[in-house]
Amino acid sequence: MTAYLEIADDSKGHELSLFCVPKHYEEDLDSVIIPSGLIKDRNLLTDIFGMASASFNECINVKTLCRTERLARDIVRDMGGHHIVALCVLKGGYKFFADLMDFIKTLNQNSDKSVPLTVDFIRLKSYSNDQSTNCVKVIGGDELSALTGKNVLIVEDIVETGRTMETLLKLLNECHPKMVKVVSLLVKRTPRSSGYRPDYIGFEVPDKFLVGYALDYNEYFRDLSHICILSDRAKEKYKV
Ligand code: IMP
Ligand code: MG
Repeated sequence: MTAYLEIADDSKGHELSLFCVPKHYEEDLDSVIIPSGLIKDRNLLTDIFGMASASFNECINVKTLCRTERLARDIVRDMGGHHIVALCVLKGGYKFFADLMDFIKTLNQNSDKSVPLTVDFIRLKSYSNDQSTNCVKVIGGDELSALTGKNVLIVEDIVETGRTMETLLKLLNECHPKMVKVVSLLVKRTPRSSGYRPDYIGFEVPDKFLVGYALDYNEYFRDLSHICILSDRAKEKYKV
């Protein structure tokens, strides 16, 4: 089974005042649920341990801290015999994609075995306000036909219903890649899930609307480092 770090439903996250949050968003967020340090920077973890609530601490497995680094290691172990094409799902995936690529590059530089890595981008849209629309649209990016015969790693920010990823996998499979794996930084625990699970998962999160680290609400909050829970008031404020 895929290992992931579970953030419990009753986790209230961390108080905003413990972290640096842009002034223009201070009124819009309930709490910090995943500090950016936990995603990518091992040096910050000691600080987070000092601050974290008991329930959050309990679910942290020390071996899986710095999730992106560990995901990079697992991916290279499984796909590392071959050239990997990393396909970034824009826009939400861009921060996770950039950090994950950095870790894979570091592994390549520091090991006897290394794997060539190229990058492609696709832009999908399925959300309006905090609701998934039934229609997943490709609205830009590289031609998927270039992925025929390749080992493709799809890099996504969050899987909620699973519809976006199922649609993309169907499109991609029409182009006959050699291998396809999916890594998603987050998977939401929700009754709306189709049951789809990615091959690699960073964190499993409660059924809340999350923003920051490139995840948006109607294009806002991509300029926020930490992953935070959006307040109901902000959903109204930024509604389209
Ligand atoms: P799905 O098709 O329901 O699995 O939704 C996947 C897509 O919806 C993701 O790629 C995100 O772009 C967006 N999404 C789903 N949940 C959230 C959230 O909590 N915050 C921000 N974007 C989300
Ligand atoms: Mg996305």
